[in-house]
Amino acid sequence: MRINIAIDGYSSCGKSTMARELARELGYTFIDSGAMYRAITLYFLRHKVALDDATAVAAALSNIQLRFERTPGREQSHICLNGEDVSEEIREMHVAGQVSAVAAIPAVRHFAVAQQQEIGREKGVVMDGRDIGTVVFPDAALKIFVTADIQVRVQRRYEELRAKEPGITMEEVRANLEARDHIDTTRAESPLRRAADAVLLDNSRLSREQQLMLVLSWAREKTGIQ
Ligand code: DC
Repeated sequence: MRINIAIDGYSSCGKSTMARELARELGYTFIDSGAMYRAITLYFLRHKVALDDATAVAAALSNIQLRFERTPGREQSHICLNGEDVSEEIREMHVAGQVSAVAAIPAVRHFAVAQQQEIGREKGVVMDGRDIGTVVFPDAALKIFVTADIQVRVQRRYEELRAKEPGITMEEVRANLEARDHIDTTRAESPLRRAADAVLLDNSRLSREQQLMLVLSWAREKTGIQ
């Protein structure tokens, strides 16, 4: 049986890595929904869209086309914004600093959620984000809510960013993570919260392999595939 798997949780909990590996093991499609909000944010930054101007936001959204594409030989799919591969640029701090504010705009969420639900119609999707188990796939057969200690998350994100942005400090990374947590959990429109039927997974002390084995066992239980 093919199912959809919803993975939600805080920023920098290693959700995307886990979701990607899980999808690969199951032969499912992996969708990083955060990449969609980041690509929309990049478009808004480039076109100087005022976030409080509903007309400008709607006009901008009508000009945005998002697609996940896979290059043969490259395992990771990349996200295209109006045909341009923006997978690298959406990870930079100027996008990270704005994305929570953009993702809090109801029109932006409706735009992204409609596309995410369309992608999930055929089943066989592992999607990670903040509202996948609560809003995008409320009927998902398996929902996982991922957490980790804030210090562990800061360390992971710092190491990830340091290679690209050598000047970055641990304090900046922590401030950005805390600000995003705050906006993500307190926004009016589909805030980050654990769905009642989601399994809680604290990965602070789990290796990638241990975590993968654990979630694979849950997925196999649900799908009946060994
Ligand atoms: O997972 P991420 O860090 O790439 O997500 C970027 C931002 O997008 C983050 O601030 C939360 C927001 N987001 C969201 O509101 N809903 C989702 N389904 C995915 C991400």
